[in-house]
Amino acid sequence: MKTYLAEDYEQMSAKAAEIIKEQLVNKPSLTLGLATGATPLGLYKKLISEYQKEQLSFHDVKTVNLDEYLGLSKNDVNSYYHFMYENFFRHININPNHTHIPNGMTEDPQQECKQYEQMIQSIGGIDLQVLGIGLNGHIGFNEPGSSFDCSTHIVQLDKSTRQANARFFPAIEDVPTEAITMGIKTIMNARQIILLASGAKKAEAVRRLMEGKVEAQFPASVLQLHPNVCIILDKDAASLLRERSTSL
Ligand code: PGA
Repeated sequence: MKTYLAEDYEQMSAKAAEIIKEQLVNKPSLTLGLATGATPLGLYKKLISEYQKEQLSFHDVKTVNLDEYLGLSKNDVNSYYHFMYENFFRHININPNHTHIPNGMTEDPQQECKQYEQMIQSIGGIDLQVLGIGLNGHIGFNEPGSSFDCSTHIVQLDKSTRQANARFFPAIEDVPTEAITMGIKTIMNARQIILLASGAKKAEAVRRLMEGKVEAQFPASVLQLHPNVCIILDKDAASLLRERSTSL
């Protein structure tokens, strides 16, 4: 695992954008795996700004998102489709047909999972996957106990995940109970992974990710087994690590 220690959220986001930019320059038709949540917002802002300065083009880029809530439509402000469109896609020159997010309104969730996985294979897999980390160690919506061998599947969301995400909904009861997520195997098949974490509340999760035992009870620990992972942390997120990371 390569690790970078940033001063703050801003610098963490800039480093992630720099890595993606480098890859995009090498391969303009890159397939990016994308994440939602508060963590990658700064990264998306930086990439948008590079596009606006004509330093980057997304014309040939394909994207696949990690997950989507079941039961939320594309128009729902809390759907991940809406998040991606508002915070990234509508600001750049990406072809909407090249963006992929599981359909939360599917009538056949099992079939949707199967097709999503096949779609990822058919476009040649993921070149670079962006990840955040949940307080319980989830990556995508792979909650504690998820098999390392699973592909895209339906999950019951943990109480702690629903509580963490309740801030975006009128009440906790409104947070969906199920989602479709890429599996750990799907994520581990990405050729390169960058995981971002910011803030003291992520420090314990980061410690277990990097220094803990590799175990299904803490899904992010599986990343220790991936050959090309880069963990980008700000100081607060790195505060419980025994070993200090490379500073930016
Ligand atoms: P956050 O979510 O970026 O909003 O902290 C991360 C996650 O739950 O994976």
